[in-house]
Amino acid sequence: MEQPRGARIIGTGYFVPPKVLSNRDLERMVDTTDEWISARTGILERHIAENGVPSSDLAAEASRPALAEAGISPLDIELIIVATVTPDRLFPSTACSLQEKLGASNAAAFDLSAACSGFIYGLTLAKGLIATSVADVVLVVGVETLSKLVDWTDRNTCVLFGDGAGAAVVAPGDSDKGILATSMGSDGRLGSLLELPGGGSLNPASEETLQNRLHFIKMKGNEVFKNAVRAMGNVAEDALAKAGIRAEDVDLLIPHQANLRIIEATAKRLGVPMEKVFVNVHKYGNTSAASIPMALHEARKEGRVKDGDIVELVSFGAGFTWGAAVIRW
Ligand code: ACO
Repeated sequence: MEQPRGARIIGTGYFVPPKVLSNRDLERMVDTTDEWISARTGILERHIAENGVPSSDLAAEASRPALAEAGISPLDIELIIVATVTPDRLFPSTACSLQEKLGASNAAAFDLSAACSGFIYGLTLAKGLIATSVADVVLVVGVETLSKLVDWTDRNTCVLFGDGAGAAVVAPGDSDKGILATSMGSDGRLGSLLELPGGGSLNPASEETLQNRLHFIKMKGNEVFKNAVRAMGNVAEDALAKAGIRAEDVDLLIPHQANLRIIEATAKRLGVPMEKVFVNVHKYGNTSAASIPMALHEARKEGRVKDGDIVELVSFGAGFTWGAAVIRW
């Protein structure tokens, strides 16, 4: 039987806004300390988009270098998938704004809402659409401007998040190289543990939602933590099994960058030593859907991804959602 077409990443890029907010800066804003934040999360600083800078601006800055590396013009893109929970507007999609900013006038475009797992969900879609010859060139972007949805008076959440974007161009490849396998899951019963309750059809924007601060992120951190470690371990193992790869053969694990302790616990569960785990959470905080593509690009820039390497991406986020992808580079 003929093998379906493979899909591989032929270009990556990332962008963070220039403004940096350090833990020391946060000490002046809420009742917290640099020591607490760094010990509990591993985060030292994060980047913050200025007022008036929407997610699509960051997405465009991350996409341009990805297109340049892929050696393609914006006109070659057939589909743009933007994974985000911080769209420019409820509608139209941020993907359509990005299409306009790139001048990608031949592309279909839509947003994907799977929180921190969005980029892996997007890669899975791109792989499937390429395998079935629906598309040849797919731009998958993870972007967030979470600083705009964070309650800057709530120390439980405001110290955790940052802004940024990462992009990947996905194109056909050999079936034994590129994205070998992916795995995804979700559990909507746990949605209220991490949510933004106001402004949607459940609680439309009103004076009451504003007064109750429902337009900000609400989170039960401890519960998220426990579920994240369990789900990331399970889904990472599932994707490896589908790809027929053993955990000891993973050259680089790129976990979602939410918290150093979650990263360490996930690596331990998988039996992957920390030397094989990419970490940049100290510089950017949790950038949700942007975290994995940003880390992938940075790992490549640092020479940590070589031709033929097995790279595993794994994530967990609001929903809850989780996902993993095994790639032979
Ligand atoms: N500074 C100082 N003290 C703080 C701060 C802060 N910024 N935030 C919370 N505290 C206090 C709490 O009020 C609490 O005090 P109390 O015991 O007097 O009530 C104490 O610290 C301990 O709080 P916990 O929530 O038990 O602390 P924990 O060790 O669980 O760490 C954290 C909290 C960092 C939020 C952790 O639970 C976590 O990282 N969870 C995952 C959350 C996450 O990453 N969410 C992002 C989206 S999902 C994802 O990306 C995986």
